[in-house]
Amino acid sequence: MVLYSRKPNGPIRNRTCSYTAMCPLLARSLREKWGFLHLQHEPGPRSTLSVMMPRRLLLAYVSGLVLTGGLLLAQATSSKSGVQQQPFGTQGGRPVNLYTLTNSHGVEIKAMSYGGIILSIRVPDRKGQFADIVLGHETLEGYIPNPPYLGAIVGRYANRIANGTFTLDGKTYTLPKNDGPNTLHGGVDKTFNKVVWDGEPLKGKSGVAFTYLSKDGEEGFPGNLKVKVTYTLTDENELVIEYEATTDKATPINLSQHSYFNLAGEGTSDILNHEVMLNADRFTPVDKNLIPTGELRPVKGTPFDFTSPTKIGARIDDTYDQIVLGHGYDHNWVINRKGDGLTLAARVYEPTSGRVLEVSTTQPGVQFYAGNFLDGTVTGKQGHIYKRRYGLCLETQHFPDSPNHPDFPSTILKPGETFKSKTVFKFSTK
Ligand code: BGC
Repeated sequence: MVLYSRKPNGPIRNRTCSYTAMCPLLARSLREKWGFLHLQHEPGPRSTLSVMMPRRLLLAYVSGLVLTGGLLLAQATSSKSGVQQQPFGTQGGRPVNLYTLTNSHGVEIKAMSYGGIILSIRVPDRKGQFADIVLGHETLEGYIPNPPYLGAIVGRYANRIANGTFTLDGKTYTLPKNDGPNTLHGGVDKTFNKVVWDGEPLKGKSGVAFTYLSKDGEEGFPGNLKVKVTYTLTDENELVIEYEATTDKATPINLSQHSYFNLAGEGTSDILNHEVMLNADRFTPVDKNLIPTGELRPVKGTPFDFTSPTKIGARIDDTYDQIVLGHGYDHNWVINRKGDGLTLAARVYEPTSGRVLEVSTTQPGVQFYAGNFLDGTVTGKQGHIYKRRYGLCLETQHFPDSPNHPDFPSTILKPGETFKSKTVFKFSTK
């Protein structure tokens, strides 16, 4: 758009051109306020403005408008990114809130205080078309019950504890069993996926903090455990998850996030066409109850070698013993790492949409679960039926059953210590 002043090639014209192009609001405001100005797309007849308004005054006026336009623009951008809280029903007599996180690229994540569940993640494909890429439900009621743990925070101990028991400081603890002989994802009743957390929007960020006090003895675990999990959506299209916990008695702790991803769009297809890279030279083989045997087995030469990108479907039904025991991929990989910092654990690429998911973490392991136990009994968003292998989980974590494996990295949190871990899910396209 071109604004003509007395000197068509002078500074006013140039500056105004770029500002009006950047800010249609400003252009409209100029048009409304100065109806006598020529605002047009092609060079045209010169304005009589110069006769009506001295040049200095014109400059001051334009500068004022530019400033207002800039402020409006800044406001419009910031109102796009941020966090919104809204009531989302009640559970067990407690109000549940829904938090909508948005960033300046239009990426949107919805999470609620019940189970810290992530309900949806909307990201663009390579053509800029947005889709929801996680399995889930539209309502709170849809998650009650939630046998596959769709989108939830899992704990106090994510993954399995063999025979629902462990010994700590000479005392044996017994946990409720919910997976054959084992305890899976923390037990039965007051597990982290089933309780109402306190939610608090993060100030000045597109994020939310969830806190929960897991009482001494809850689900058989020792110690009052204060847990905080924050979800932050960045302008780099990352979902940053930070976990923090303290206790007043020594306790095992293993926290993870149980979102099922389908980068083609939730409910549309299985995930066998997704290409996966896992930054891991070893994995932890399991017995028939999916409990690690204790071995750290090299992936080389096995269907567990994802050190270069490979389609999930290529070997998921192999006759290799571990594939048979897991009914496909449902194992913990030992992340290759140097030091304790954030390290790339996995990269997933879906060829039709071009969507890419990168997972980095401070944790030692990642459970790659290919949704083998989804069986079409859960109907999710938009009536979509979640069939076998319609979603994949990348659960960053400590190794399963660590309290019974003194050789594995320790999961024991002691009074006076703070448990901290961080996982970043980064969304992009190629
Ligand atoms: C486990 C699977 C289990 C799923 C849902 C995953 O973390 O590895 O075996 O079926 O959670 O409970």
